[in-house]
Amino acid sequence: MARIVAGVSSSHVPAIGAAIDNRQTEEPYWKRVFSGFEKSKAWMEKTKPDVCIVVYNDHASAFSVEIVPTFALGCAAEFPPADEGWGPRPVPVVKGHPQLAAHIAQSVILDEFDLTVVNKMEVDHGLTVPMNLLFGSPKEWPCPVIPLAVNVVLYPPPTGHRCFMLGRAIKKAVESYPEDLRVVVFGTGGMSHQISGPRAGLINSKFDKAFLDNLSKDPKKLVRIPHIEYMREAGAEGIEMVMWLIMRGALDDKVDEVYRFYTVPASNTAVGHIILENRKRAAKAPAKHKRAAARAKVQRVRS
Ligand code: DHB
Ligand code: FE
Repeated sequence: MARIVAGVSSSHVPAIGAAIDNRQTEEPYWKRVFSGFEKSKAWMEKTKPDVCIVVYNDHASAFSVEIVPTFALGCAAEFPPADEGWGPRPVPVVKGHPQLAAHIAQSVILDEFDLTVVNKMEVDHGLTVPMNLLFGSPKEWPCPVIPLAVNVVLYPPPTGHRCFMLGRAIKKAVESYPEDLRVVVFGTGGMSHQISGPRAGLINSKFDKAFLDNLSKDPKKLVRIPHIEYMREAGAEGIEMVMWLIMRGALDDKVDEVYRFYTVPASNTAVGHIILENRKRAAKAPAKHKRAAARAKVQRVRS
């Protein structure tokens, strides 16, 4: 049976990708950001997922404003990096997992979450930057990735509650896939940021840190935050944080927080990052053994 072992959230600031591509990671401004992901890369290398599901948003790269799906699941065999104006980033092509993706699409749609199935798609910084932060810059990405693009660019985006419940449906889908696969789910975007208008540059560390605390310990406190509150407190692009709730919904209720990092700023954005692990489940004793153990207990009581 496939199983979700952990969730990872991380901002996806495009300038982080540019700093990698232009070899600026050792400059003090960027070292402060990248040093926060050293432990995460070591964790990822140890965790070695078989597949990652990366929840991110497309920034008008794959989908123009002509068609904006609310939830779009990448079911293709591969996803090339998008040209975002400076040519495609020099990162590996993302290999998909069409079998698991098709299984998730079927399970989730029959569960009444009407996803858009995408069989051809390019992926932008929303996906490639978190991949670099967690996997570094290898020649090939070490595992297949299923992209899940969420609309947070055109009103109305999905609610936090809808996102959390979609995460729940993804968990159920993964757990009904027969192959033994260890899956890590990413939620990307955020934290507080606004990139245009009179409030450009807005950052709200208090809101961000409370969000991280609740994401870890009490996500139910987050699911009813209305869009207007994200806008007011975390800036127009702070709405990207609803995607973190898909990741959290895909995990168990109780999780272990294994790592957290927060720094301000990178470009216009507060950078937040958290790693949450599902607790190891005790292997179920086979029914035959359970019956034998129950009989032995009854005998002990009688004698
Ligand atoms: C910035 C951050 C984003 O998440 C994004 O998608 C685009 C720009 C920024 O900080 O500049
Ligand atoms: Fe973004």
